[in-house]
Amino acid sequence: MFFAKTIGYIAKNLTSKELTFLSEAEKLSQHFLLIPLKEVAKRTSFSSTLTQKIMKNLNKKKLVRLSSKPYVGFKLTPVAFDVLTLRLLGEMNVLVYIGKELGVGKESKVYEGLTSKDEEVAVKVLKVGMPAFKKVKRYRLLRNVSSPYWSYETSKELAKREFKALKKLYPRKAKVPKPIFQFRQVLLTEKIKGEMLVNSYWKILHPEKLLEQIMEEIKFWLETVQIVHGDLNQYNILIEELDKITVIDWAQWVTKNDYGSYFLLERDIKTILDFFRKKLGVKKDLNEVKEYLIGYR
Ligand SMILES: Nc1ncnc2c1ncn2[C@@H]1O[C@H](COP(=O)(O)OP(=O)(O)O)[C@@H](O)[C@H]1O
Ligand SMILES: [Mg+2]
Repeated sequence: MFFAKTIGYIAKNLTSKELTFLSEAEKLSQHFLLIPLKEVAKRTSFSSTLTQKIMKNLNKKKLVRLSSKPYVGFKLTPVAFDVLTLRLLGEMNVLVYIGKELGVGKESKVYEGLTSKDEEVAVKVLKVGMPAFKKVKRYRLLRNVSSPYWSYETSKELAKREFKALKKLYPRKAKVPKPIFQFRQVLLTEKIKGEMLVNSYWKILHPEKLLEQIMEEIKFWLETVQIVHGDLNQYNILIEELDKITVIDWAQWVTKNDYGSYFLLERDIKTILDFFRKKLGVKKDLNEVKEYLIGYR
């Protein structure tokens, strides 16, 4: 099996001593900006030479960043948190394989994976606010930005949040991927074989019907589960053969009664209507659709 040098590859090639080192370092990162090497040695019971050797290896793997001032220590890199979480999912016997990238979103990377129950899954690793990912402002409000591990903490919250939405929606037969497992900043869901609407719209034979199906789905979420997606767009709708849709990316959902839900609902509807108008020539009046979905404009 070919592994690209992804986080999956690094996780797979971590020795058990390196894993112990990283796990202890992660706990220490709660208390130290610069993690003292001495503390790691104490907690792992590794000799100081061994601790140093592991630190250097982890540095080569870009999992830690070293520093000698004001004392000998290191910081964990964002990749370290991802690798650690994936490796722990392996140790917990949840995930047995992680493979190629399925997609990159605004704030995550998604890989294909296989669980110990032989289920094919999408492994979504949230990475809020990483340099390659935009749209940070919104979340900055949630957390103390001065924390060096702010991105990791926020990603954990969002993964939990997304899992919660899927657990509400999936049993009611909403068109969403089956939620499988969530651990820290990683979310496992059923792997969907479809393509994003943004790339596959030109294959659609009955755009009006598809649009209707999406609007019915929004109505269903509202009425049955009382929730609004909040980030609905042509990237978050996957289409399998013909017209089977699956709506992904639920980290930003709100309940119908939450502050701002009307604004988000309106934006969701408008985004989809705009896309269908521009790319597929389907014209629908926003106010009429709103009236139909919620009873008022
Ligand atoms: N369950 C899934 N099955 C297959 N591909 C997926 C699945 N979930 C996400 N992807 C792929 O990963 C990309 C990013 O996922 P998404 O949940 O939209 O993350 P983001 O919040 O970063 O936008 C998607 O556009 C899609 O291509
Ligand atoms: Mg997305």
